[in-house]
Amino acid sequence: MGIWRLLLLLSLLTCANLPPSSSDPDDEACLNHLSESLEDPNKSLHNWTKTTFANPCSGFTSYLEGATCNNGRIYKLSLTNLSLRGSISPFLSNCTNLQALDLSSNSLTGPIPPDLQSLVNLAVLNLSSNRLDGEIPPQLALCAYLNVIDLHENLLTGQIPQQLGLLVRLSAFDVSYNRLSGPIPPSLGNRTGNLPKFNASSFEGNKDIYGYPLPPMKNKGLSVLAIVGIGLGSGFVSLVLSFTAVCIWLRVTEQKMAAEEGKISQLMPDY
Ligand SMILES: *[C@@H]1O[C@H](CO)[C@@H](O)[C@H](O)[C@H]1NC(C)=O
Ligand SMILES: *[C@@H]1O[C@H](CO)[C@@H](O)[C@H](O)[C@H]1NC(C)=O
Ligand SMILES: *[C@@H]1O[C@H](CO)[C@@H](O)[C@H](O)[C@H]1NC(C)=O
Ligand SMILES: *[C@@H]1O[C@H](CO)[C@@H](O)[C@H](O)[C@H]1NC(C)=O
Ligand SMILES: *[C@@H]1O[C@H](CO)[C@@H](O)[C@H](O)[C@H]1NC(C)=O
Ligand SMILES: *[C@@H]1O[C@H](CO)[C@@H](O)[C@H](O)[C@H]1NC(C)=O
Ligand SMILES: *[C@@H]1O[C@H](CO)[C@@H](O)[C@H](O)[C@H]1NC(C)=O
Repeated sequence: MGIWRLLLLLSLLTCANLPPSSSDPDDEACLNHLSESLEDPNKSLHNWTKTTFANPCSGFTSYLEGATCNNGRIYKLSLTNLSLRGSISPFLSNCTNLQALDLSSNSLTGPIPPDLQSLVNLAVLNLSSNRLDGEIPPQLALCAYLNVIDLHENLLTGQIPQQLGLLVRLSAFDVSYNRLSGPIPPSLGNRTGNLPKFNASSFEGNKDIYGYPLPPMKNKGLSVLAIVGIGLGSGFVSLVLSFTAVCIWLRVTEQKMAAEEGKISQLMPDY
């Protein structure tokens, strides 16, 4: 009798201690769509199967490679350097407890989904070293806790959204080596007060962006000067050339004439 009671108590205790396996419909939708949008040619994501998506977490333990759980919800996704291809599903926004998203150093293509704006807990966004294109979504400014935005080494175009300057917690910002254009918003390039500052290395390697903290555009200034210089120079050179030509012509004709005159005077009998 006593033993049975003890066993019952023990099993109750064990059960109570086991964290509940979570089955969050938002996380499930998020993972399902993400695994459909990603391609995994090296088969790095072994456990990324539909059955695991229904139950990706057990308390703080994750059954998915690259995922970290917190209280039964996905809260970090770190899939870096896995040769992943494909695109970032907009349904990633359904992982509403996500705090860190690191998909850096893969071969992802397509845009950064503006839907990420619903990740209100997002603090780290690292999508660096991929082949993402399109514009940087200004909606990211709605993720008020963002403190890392690393998008360096992609194929992003358009301007840097000035709204991102509203992110007061931002302590790392890197959009270097993309195809961005236009002015660097002073809210990011020349931050005021105690906000962490970003230097030129955050912005370099973009062909067409300008403004502080990048050095003044020597190329553009030079090219304007060069055009004027070439214009003036070539005008001057052609002037000199034509002048010289005229001079030479005049001289030659003069000499010819002198020679003719000489001949004539030779041929002419003296009277
Ligand atoms: C994959 O899932 C199985 C059970 O679902 C688990 O035992 C294993 O540890 C998981 N692997 C990783 C890397 O999480
Ligand atoms: C990326 O993965 C490749 C292949 O597994 C490995 O050789 C390389 O060292 C990794 N790079 C980094 C920065 O981890
Ligand atoms: C993936 O596979 C390719 C060749 O199939 C290899 O070059 C690359 O290093 C692999 N990457 C990883 C992360 O294992
Ligand atoms: C999941 O994400 C999609 C795409 O952003 C969105 O349309 C949908 O409302 C989200 N669903 C939930 C339950 O948040
Ligand atoms: C983003 O990821 C890359 C490669 O994994 C790493 O080198 C870089 O330091 C990360 N960025 C930040 C701001 O942590
Ligand atoms: C940076 O901002 C300060 C104060 O807002 C301003 O005085 C300064 O001229 C700005 N510097 C540049 C290079 O724009
Ligand atoms: C620019 O800032 C980065 C960190 O954000 C730092 O590692 C680097 O040394 C700085 N470069 C210069 C020239 O100050």
